[in-house]
Amino acid sequence: MDIRYLGHAAFTLSDDDATVLIDPFLTGNPTAAVSADEVPATTILLTHGHGDHIGDTVSIAKRTGAPVLAIVELAQELGEEGIQTLDINIGGTVEFDWGWAKMVPAWHTSTTPKGTVSTPAGYLINFRDTIVYHLGDTGLFSDLQLVGKRHPIDYALMCIGGHYTMDRFDAVDAAGLVGAKTVIPCHYNTFPAIEADAQAFKADVESATGSSVLILEPGETTTA
Ligand code: NI
Ligand code: MN
Repeated sequence: MDIRYLGHAAFTLSDDDATVLIDPFLTGNPTAAVSADEVPATTILLTHGHGDHIGDTVSIAKRTGAPVLAIVELAQELGEEGIQTLDINIGGTVEFDWGWAKMVPAWHTSTTPKGTVSTPAGYLINFRDTIVYHLGDTGLFSDLQLVGKRHPIDYALMCIGGHYTMDRFDAVDAAGLVGAKTVIPCHYNTFPAIEADAQAFKADVESATGSSVLILEPGETTTA
């Protein structure tokens, strides 16, 4: 499987048959590696309702027919746009041809640009037996250590930009709690408010924890 970083918190997990697209904020994202008109998707996962995560979800879902997995209130709002949605809530798991996705807690807010209030989340994802944890937007909290307890995490996609989420220093502690084999930083350097030194984060994580850090530039892919 391939993990491709599209910029900000957007990623695809893919193989020849399926593409899971997470938080596709592309239009208006100065670091976006792909346009909303061309990004592939067979399933779309949304961590929460902020504009920098919903992004181009509606237009991509309409073009591709991909169902959108989101927390119930957000799924309700998006369903009114005429796209296929799958609603879920914290702790729930949905199975797909490619594996499954479980919604897990994140500490943040999640009011949509249209005003729908919901709870933010992360996803623990099994894509063809590779376990990927997208933390969503979150601050540091101790329950991060519970997420991989029954499913050891291969890749953690972790916000490090600060200001709206945990910064790169708290993210070192988060990496220790999550215990992934590999951490891929995200949600940084998109805007001046969330500038972060990913190389310093890598050095700190690799000296303080057993995880390695893989820095992907927007558009880069790693093969698991
Ligand atoms: Ni947010
Ligand atoms: Mn965000």
